Amino acid sequence: MIKVSVLGLKNSLILSPLAEITIPPFRRICAEFGAVTISEMTYAKGIIYNNPNSLRRIARAETEEKYGIQLLTNNPEDLVNTIELIESEKLSDFIELNLGCPKPKITNARLGAALLRIQDHMLLKELLEIGSFSSKLPFTVKIRAGFDTVTFPDVLKLAEKTNVSFVTLHSRLATDTYQTPARSEYWKQAVEITSIPIIANGDVQSFDHACQIIEQFGVDGVAIGRSARGNPQIFQKQAKLSSREVYDRLIQYMKNTVYFNLFNLRVQSADFMKNFRYAANARKTILSMNNPNEIIEYTREMLGKR
Ligand SMILES: Cc1cc2nc3c(=O)[nH]c(=O)nc-3n(C[C@H](O)[C@H](O)[C@H](O)COP(=O)(O)O)c2cc1C
Repeated sequence: MIKVSVLGLKNSLILSPLAEITIPPFRRICAEFGAVTISEMTYAKGIIYNNPNSLRRIARAETEEKYGIQLLTNNPEDLVNTIELIESEKLSDFIELNLGCPKPKITNARLGAALLRIQDHMLLKELLEIGSFSSKLPFTVKIRAGFDTVTFPDVLKLAEKTNVSFVTLHSRLATDTYQTPARSEYWKQAVEITSIPIIANGDVQSFDHACQIIEQFGVDGVAIGRSARGNPQIFQKQAKLSSREVYDRLIQYMKNTVYFNLFNLRVQSADFMKNFRYAANARKTILSMNNPNEIIEYTREMLGKR
């Protein structure tokens, strides 16, 4: 059973942000299948200074009924200014601070998961206070279990004190690789120690798996990232369309946008080559193709054979 969402929806399955993959046309489809959607992480400064790439990335598609913008910043003033801008221009329904990105380029700049380190909790507290108290929209955070040691219990305490609306917990450390399985016991622990709604994230593979996690651990929702690649119907109990129909719809949404380019076509098309015998070869073929129409035709043909 899906719990009533903290955002007032029937369904609390969230499309977890994937940089360069959960592009607006892809989010549009996931939203049609019932997902709450969130932009890829976007530098607050990029929004403040009207960087065209940042603005494109956070542009809300018409079907995104419950949509959040995810920010990357450690600067209190930038956070206030971005929140003001998002609110005044009604760009989203909630605002999320990224506290989970593990990339050295990000964490070396004291951004993303770096702020989970105990020595950075003064700054983190300031950011959470500003996020919650200067925003009329729900303010949320996406965290990992910690940077290189487990600190999420302390982070949850800070989030509770500062009225954060919900926390998405990707139950790995930032220093873990994806080979380390996500730790479901952290979701359980999180629910036990805080009254803030918790969204579980990490290695969720299907709609039924998400329902089972909600039941078993008492979390308020589940965020699905990689398993949604090439499979936006994961947000529905039962897939109603064929993969080819979904792919066609994605291509239609990409057409006439800046996202209709070789890079996105290769990535999105290769993502649809899942779970069949020659998937690895098909993916390789797509990634080596240089002609957009050829990629589309080849992908359609392969999907037709399934
Ligand atoms: C390629 C890639 C890009 C990602 N980009 C973001 C991002 O922009 N913001 C974010 O909060 N998490 C990002 N993540 C983390 C995912 O949202 C998610 O937390 C993680 O993949 C675990 O969930 P999953 O097992 O359902 O994929 C990214 C992960 C991957 C693999």
